[in-house]
Amino acid sequence: MRLLCSLLLGMVALTDVAVAALSSGCGKAPTVTSGVKTISVGGTQRQFTIRVPQNYQNNKGYKLVYGLHWVGGRMEQVANGGDTGSKNWKYYGMQVLANETAIFVAPQGISGNWGNSGGSDIKFIDAMNDYIDAGLCVDQAQRFSIGFSYGGSMTYAIACARAKQFRGVAVIAGGQLSGCDGGNDPIAYFGIHGIKDGTLNIAGGRTLRDRFVKNNGCASMSGAKEPTSGSRTHITTAATGCKQGYPMKWAAHDGGHIQAAADKPAPEENGEASWVGPEVWAFWNLPELAS
Ligand SMILES: *[C@@H]1O[C@H](CO)[C@@H](O)[C@H](O)[C@H]1NC(C)=O
Repeated sequence: MRLLCSLLLGMVALTDVAVAALSSGCGKAPTVTSGVKTISVGGTQRQFTIRVPQNYQNNKGYKLVYGLHWVGGRMEQVANGGDTGSKNWKYYGMQVLANETAIFVAPQGISGNWGNSGGSDIKFIDAMNDYIDAGLCVDQAQRFSIGFSYGGSMTYAIACARAKQFRGVAVIAGGQLSGCDGGNDPIAYFGIHGIKDGTLNIAGGRTLRDRFVKNNGCASMSGAKEPTSGSRTHITTAATGCKQGYPMKWAAHDGGHIQAAADKPAPEENGEASWVGPEVWAFWNLPELAS
């Protein structure tokens, strides 16, 4: 197994084709269970909630999905389905769709923020990756992050700084609040924003998107259609011409600063009716992203 993994890792480097890279926790009894964990990162105690699949098998490389909370938010809210507590919106809708094929993590920002000063929150992400890789069987080529608002901004910071460690991201109503260290590597990127967002406006969301349009080698998305005000719908556009394995999507919706956007006749925000979860999960599971 060791030799096979090394060979596979070598192939990743040589061909840039995604191949499963099994973590050191594979083939061993799991040492991480579902619940709240506390780890020390640079002398600071940091907490996260983790959910291990119910039928966990230690010989299977699982996807690892981070769900990052909004400003003043709590990790429990992400794990329990956002503000509404909707079952279908646990981990931004990803948990139900994954159907026990992914490990989920909701980290806690200090004082509910993702300021990432001096890269402190990126170091926290690195420390969680190491902890989880050692204790569970993770496909290191299948790490993802999703977040809303400040959590979208931190997910953007992950895309900038850790594009080689993460396979894809979804940035919901994000802004550039958590920095962008690096920022030159490609990563599968799905940007989602409301045309009426009065907190972090859509122009900022387009700017974040366009960094990865460039990194991924895609054709400009500046002409991507967006819905008209009052249409109560959304328009999702896939970029063309992107490098193989690094797709881009942009979804604009006729709504405000919300996470679980839904089309009419559902309410503007609704965890059960939202198209966001299904579209993001389908994007992360495109064949070109598979290991
Ligand atoms: C979830 O996975 C199980 C086991 O692989 C399968 O039997 C079931 O049909 C899946 N459910 C859905 C909704 O896809």
